[in-house]
Amino acid sequence: MKTHTKRKMILDCDPGHDDAIAILLAAGHEGIDLIGITTVAGNAELEKTTLNALKVCEIAGIDVPVLKGNSQPLIRKRETAADIHGDSGMDGPVLPAPVKQAGEEHAVDFIIRTLMESDGDITLVPVGPLTNIAMAMRREPSILSKIQEIVLMGGGTFGNWTPAAEFNIYVDADAAKVVFESGVPITMMGLDLTHQALADHDVSRRIGGIGNQPANFVSELLTYFRKTYLEFFGFEHPPVHDVCSVAYCIDPTVVETKKLRVDIETKGELTYGMTLVDVNGVTGKEPNVNFAMKLDHAKFWNMLIDTLERY
Ligand code: BDR
Ligand code: CA
Repeated sequence: MKTHTKRKMILDCDPGHDDAIAILLAAGHEGIDLIGITTVAGNAELEKTTLNALKVCEIAGIDVPVLKGNSQPLIRKRETAADIHGDSGMDGPVLPAPVKQAGEEHAVDFIIRTLMESDGDITLVPVGPLTNIAMAMRREPSILSKIQEIVLMGGGTFGNWTPAAEFNIYVDADAAKVVFESGVPITMMGLDLTHQALADHDVSRRIGGIGNQPANFVSELLTYFRKTYLEFFGFEHPPVHDVCSVAYCIDPTVVETKKLRVDIETKGELTYGMTLVDVNGVTGKEPNVNFAMKLDHAKFWNMLIDTLERY
């Protein structure tokens, strides 16, 4: 008999419209054992991203610990994305105040402890700034050999927060540098990939037709996200960036990848937070990243929609 083992995951996030949908996919799919949701300042301040994570868990009946992490980047001043996600970090849907509370343990302590107690079979999925992950690596370097893989959302060959830099990397490029130079296997969902994960009208109609509470919540998230992505970036449809990382963990064939060298710019006057993707191999450095190139759009959306239907 064929047995399927679930992939153990810690989802480190800053909800965030697309983060919220990533939580629903990770918690709702049978291929994932979601062992913790850790939060970080990013799209909004830490208190807000944590509250949003708790709200998502509550409306979908997700019984997974939520642990609060860092409220500031390692070195730089905090920057948030209210233009895209609203002041709350998850504007649009109106959700009740959650009964569920965040755990007592700090996210960084949770990440370190959980990895050290593991058999090296946990995947970290950071879909916000990399502050918590970098701090865990610095605090306890022996976690490095315990991380199965890091499947992150961030960076790309172009930017969205500056012409050079993507938001998650830009907010804490110093942390990103620690992570990208850690030697841990990294799969990177950059903008090149996530801009293919567009919630077009057909997708929105299918999600709208499901009718359960989590799916209705996703519809409301997408309505808000569609509006800001049009106003701010001129996109016809919103890209659900963070969901790509979770989808890849469930089924790696949803994405085509290529091994490339990626370095992080932390000093450039105009290029701070840029991910230098060595597409042509000109640096001669060993690849350190499994770089996501192409999304199987149908497979991706079917996976998410099937999962929402099962809630
Ligand atoms: C990333 O930035 C955030 O606004 C999104 O949640 C995503 O993680 C895209 O650049
Ligand atoms: Ca995010």
